[in-house]
Amino acid sequence: MELQHIWMLRLVVACALFLCIFFRSTSAVEGFESIACCADSNYTDPRTTLNYTTDYIWFSDKQSCKQIPEIVLSQRSNENVRLFHINEGKRCYNLPTIEDKVYLIRGTFPFDSFDSSFYVSIGVTQLGEVRSSRLQDLEIEGVFKATKDYIDFCLVKGEVNPFISQIELRSLPEEYLHDLPASVLKLISRNNLGDKKDDIRFPVDQSDRIWKATSNLSSALPLSFNVSNVDLRGNLTPPLQVLQTALTHPERLQFIHDGLDTEDYEYSIFLYFLELNSTIIAGQRVFDIYLNNEVKKERFDVLAGGSKYSYTILNISANGSLNITLVKASQSKFGPPLNAYEILQIRPWIEETNHIDVKVIQKLRKELLQNPENKALESWTGDPCILFPWKGIKCDGSNGSSVINKLDLSSSNITGPIPSSVTEMTNLEILNLSHNSFVGHIPSFLRSSLLISVDVSYNDLTGPLPESIISLPHLKSLYFGCNHHMSEEDPAKLNSSRINTDYGKCKVKEHKHGQVFVIGAITGGSLLITLAVGILFFCRYRYKLIPWEGFGGKNYPMETNIIFSLPSKDDFFVKSVSIEAFTLEYLEVVTEKYRTLIGEGGFGSVYRGTLDDSQEVPVKVRSATSTQGTREFDNELNLLSAIQHENLVPLLGYCKEKDQQILVYPFMSNGSLLDRLYGDAAKRKILDWPTRLSIALGAARGLAYLHTFPGRSVIHRDVKSSNILLDQSMCAKVADFGFSKYAPQEGDSYVSLEVRGTAGYLDPEYYKTQQLSEKSDVFSFGVVLTGNWGVAGEPLNIKRPRTEWSLVEWAKPYIRASKVEEIVDPGIKGGYHAEAMWRVVEVALQCLEPYSTYRPCMVDIVRELEDALIIENNASEYMKSIDSLGGSNRYSIVLDKRVLPATTSTAESTITTQALSHPQPR
Ligand SMILES: *[C@@H]1O[C@H](CO)[C@@H](O)[C@H](O)[C@H]1NC(C)=O
Ligand SMILES: *[C@@H]1O[C@H](CO)[C@@H](O)[C@H](O)[C@H]1NC(C)=O
Ligand SMILES: *[C@@H]1O[C@H](CO)[C@@H](O)[C@H](O)[C@H]1NC(C)=O
Ligand SMILES: *[C@@H]1O[C@H](CO)[C@@H](O)[C@H](O)[C@H]1NC(C)=O
Ligand SMILES: *[C@@H]1O[C@H](CO)[C@@H](O)[C@H](O)[C@H]1NC(C)=O
Ligand SMILES: *[C@@H]1O[C@H](CO)[C@@H](O)[C@H](O)[C@H]1NC(C)=O
Ligand SMILES: *[C@@H]1O[C@H](CO)[C@@H](O)[C@H](O)[C@H]1NC(C)=O
Repeated sequence: MELQHIWMLRLVVACALFLCIFFRSTSAVEGFESIACCADSNYTDPRTTLNYTTDYIWFSDKQSCKQIPEIVLSQRSNENVRLFHINEGKRCYNLPTIEDKVYLIRGTFPFDSFDSSFYVSIGVTQLGEVRSSRLQDLEIEGVFKATKDYIDFCLVKGEVNPFISQIELRSLPEEYLHDLPASVLKLISRNNLGDKKDDIRFPVDQSDRIWKATSNLSSALPLSFNVSNVDLRGNLTPPLQVLQTALTHPERLQFIHDGLDTEDYEYSIFLYFLELNSTIIAGQRVFDIYLNNEVKKERFDVLAGGSKYSYTILNISANGSLNITLVKASQSKFGPPLNAYEILQIRPWIEETNHIDVKVIQKLRKELLQNPENKALESWTGDPCILFPWKGIKCDGSNGSSVINKLDLSSSNITGPIPSSVTEMTNLEILNLSHNSFVGHIPSFLRSSLLISVDVSYNDLTGPLPESIISLPHLKSLYFGCNHHMSEEDPAKLNSSRINTDYGKCKVKEHKHGQVFVIGAITGGSLLITLAVGILFFCRYRYKLIPWEGFGGKNYPMETNIIFSLPSKDDFFVKSVSIEAFTLEYLEVVTEKYRTLIGEGGFGSVYRGTLDDSQEVPVKVRSATSTQGTREFDNELNLLSAIQHENLVPLLGYCKEKDQQILVYPFMSNGSLLDRLYGDAAKRKILDWPTRLSIALGAARGLAYLHTFPGRSVIHRDVKSSNILLDQSMCAKVADFGFSKYAPQEGDSYVSLEVRGTAGYLDPEYYKTQQLSEKSDVFSFGVVLTGNWGVAGEPLNIKRPRTEWSLVEWAKPYIRASKVEEIVDPGIKGGYHAEAMWRVVEVALQCLEPYSTYRPCMVDIVRELEDALIIENNASEYMKSIDSLGGSNRYSIVLDKRVLPATTSTAESTITTQALSHPQPR
């Protein structure tokens, strides 16, 4: 939400109540705003007595809140930090200001264990990079003069996602920018010399400048006197408490600041002097001031003006380092002193976008956000045009100040009426609102509008086309088709206006040529039967309940009771067993001292083993290079024992002796999907399309279960066809999720996850940003889907031309041209229903969107694949289901569930459906 608007709203309310005195009840100091990001509640900092408010009016989600790890010595009042997960661009806080007043704004960035780098800006003027090098929180502060009634404080994504814990806005004396009105001053250093105590700030300093205590400088001597009755003239003056300590030296006082920006910048240096020795008189303490070896003041005498206090502001251009040296002048009796100083870097103020355009677009954003379902506006913070323009906005800066001339909100899933403020965008030339769910009438546009192109097609608009839009003076194209409730237009009217238009006609989506009549012919009830039949056909089990003691005839220590299905020679059982803790010794026997290596994955080596009950098992040994500690291993074992799903490979046992981390899984007799699709000719079997579809659905369900795991979403990180295993009955089971990662969440420390995954399947966004989310799995699953129906080929095949190395890139043009038949695996040609195939192709394409935001989530994918399977099965089983199965009454147990039996893991419901539908396999 826009603070500005809230603030204005509050003002209006307050004025209405004749209380228009303070606009903020909680921060009583005028011109002060203190924001504690992600704090649990508003609070008062006991050290400063300042009141801090939370930041939820800007960013309401608590997903991005983290607790700061306790590794830093800083004294903090806020233990939380907001970490923005963004693809690119900026996130801004806007704080109320008064035009022409001078402020400082300070961001606090908690120390971060890795070398982070992102950027901070005031308005659109960059203040620089956030890169913490010392083991303490970093503060970045800038001084600026407000140009309007609010200021944006923005974080811009760099190598890593930006984070922040605190923002402080303070009004400052105007003198800071007296000679430099169109500048931003970035604080380099602010020192209180000769003081050994804490930093001094509010309430001692009424502007809440933070004066860092700096006592020990090689060979400089501290001076400290109780001064009173001093005439401290000038608004800039530091508090007396800062001035009553100083450093001095009999000959020369030298301050070196290294590590400044290496480009040339102008610096302003503020030096503050107070003569602390009351016996000294004018002429006795005289000195020269050098900046980087350049004499800036000769024979400077603090007492010369008749006051004990004096300050001077010196400017110099520098890069890399600054050397402030005060040298005793000839004939001076005493050496130079210095009580306090500030170094500020001068950056030119960059002009923001045309204020009127900004006001209108913010109003438009607010109108769109009145409908809480419009979520696509996350990037819409701060300046719309400069420093990463808002998504969907293009600007023109050729006439000095930037103006917005293009607004493209197409395919943004927006609902509600078209915001009326769109007509107030006086510089707008291109407006595209197509492919959304806008409702209501098209607003009337002003004749002064510069609009050249308007596209409102594919919405749900009503009413006639307003006359005002047809007669827009500059309009060249107008599309409004596929709004099924809009009135018919008279083509003659549009023809006469010589506008390019679709006349309100709706172009049918070309590729949807599936035979829909089958679906139409069947009632909802029988749809589900045939679906149930289809699923069970591929995942049929015979269940027996066997007490866990029966397992291998051995009593293993019982840790967690779980139920899972377990394949044996020719049958399936449900066993209630514990995940066993195997001894290292036992596993050496099982694997014959790790004799047969059967696989090598990102998480370690896999050996063949045979358990006591002659069950064959893969034994996965974590690689020695693993940095994972025992505690993490325990945590993940807990997770693994909690995870149980029909479509996930269960864990049989583990071993964690002598720093070994070993996992034992059941063997999947039909190998992996990879083997089936692209493996050696010997292993490869042509899978028919319905089998492929049900495998895809099974895998999707397994992943959906992981992603929605109660309490904590689990991300697989290495979804690929070799990790989708097929059991005896060709039921898909996702493997290798045991050492997946939890989705980032509150309380995580900032451990940079190394990017994991397999070439060809790896989410490009994850690779670029290293920001892990469920959507990375979705991308990889999209690759699996593509390989599942496409011409059999590895996801990455360097035998293809360079631009077509990746299966996905190669397939896309065919899909766009609606020529799926040409890339469908020849093995299933003629064996699929076109509509079902298209459903899957479309899901695959959505999964492969380069930006994760546009990818569906696994739960939606499951739904789509279920629909595809319904269509497929209806096409092939329609007649059969009517003839051989008779009426639908017998299946009522299954029918009242939208969730299909294959997803339910209780033996009971599965047995019921199984008994009803299929002869038992022998
Ligand atoms: C903080 O808020 C309290 C109560 O609202 C108020 O009395 C106090 O003056 C405020 N502190 C400052 C520094 O403004
Ligand atoms: C914190 O303060 C802000 C600003 O005064 C106010 O809008 C918000 O309701 C307060 N929050 C709580 C939890 O009191
Ligand atoms: C000066 O302070 C620094 C830390 O600020 C410390 O490491 C150093 O030992 C101190 N030197 C003297 C002479 O006290
Ligand atoms: C200054 O005055 C305070 C109390 O008024 C006293 O505690 C302190 O020692 C004095 N400092 C000096 C340097 O005289
Ligand atoms: C103050 O100045 C006098 C000379 O006027 C000198 O003797 C004395 O040592 C000075 N005091 C300090 C603490 O420097
Ligand atoms: C700093 O400037 C002074 C005066 O010009 C000079 O004597 C000194 O060598 C300089 N120090 C460094 C480290 O550059
Ligand atoms: C579009 O909005 C609907 C609700 O209006 C939501 O269910 C769906 O997930 C959204 N789709 C995308 C791609 O954001």
